[in-house]
Amino acid sequence: MDATYNLNGGFKPTAKRIADLDGPDFYPTPRWATYALIDNEKFSGDIWECACGDGAMSKVLQETGNTVLSSDLYNRGYGEIGKDFLEQNRITENIITNPPYNSAEGFVHSGLKKAKSKFAFLLRLAFLEGSNRSNTIFSCSPPARVWVFSERITFYPKGAKVSGSGTTAYAWFVWDKNHAGPTELAWLKPGYKAKYS
Ligand SMILES: C[S@@+](CC[C@H](N)C(=O)[O-])C[C@H]1O[C@@H](n2cnc3c(N)ncnc32)[C@H](O)[C@@H]1O
Repeated sequence: MDATYNLNGGFKPTAKRIADLDGPDFYPTPRWATYALIDNEKFSGDIWECACGDGAMSKVLQETGNTVLSSDLYNRGYGEIGKDFLEQNRITENIITNPPYNSAEGFVHSGLKKAKSKFAFLLRLAFLEGSNRSNTIFSCSPPARVWVFSERITFYPKGAKVSGSGTTAYAWFVWDKNHAGPTELAWLKPGYKAKYS
């Protein structure tokens, strides 16, 4: 069971989540999913990967020429450890992460305060739903763009055998302080999984 993305505060079963073998909410992001963001969104200046896990996302951000600061609340063997993103006073130009599912809303509120230019979070597409999020996020601080994945991402705990395809739809949600106007909806073209896995 998983309290993620519930609409009413209750628990909601998920279909394809595999038990977290190494602490709460540690699911490294497949490389191709980060490449898909960098291929479509420009980031100028430093990037903070503020829930970096084992660096799966940070490494792709560095490979693509970015200066990356990495931190995590837990020790996953990468970056600064013991750093609760929700409690940090650090301000950076950009923030990119796949946040822990049960704190996604708090991460968005923190991103609004801690990113000077842009922040991008990999979230379930269903994050768009929900009256609470409508009131506290989408009506007052909507993202600039939502990039919907055409290909399904499957998250596995580190070391688990990778096979098959996920059953949950994901998207990159991008908040951009320089964006004016309504949220743009766009689709990530198929092909990233084959090219960057
Ligand atoms: C879904 S994993 C994603 C890891 C990494 N961002 C990636 O994409 O590969 C979420 C990460 O958030 C970390 N985490 C959980 N709560 C946190 C918090 N309050 N502040 C910072 N990191 C946190 C977990 O330790 C875990 O590594």
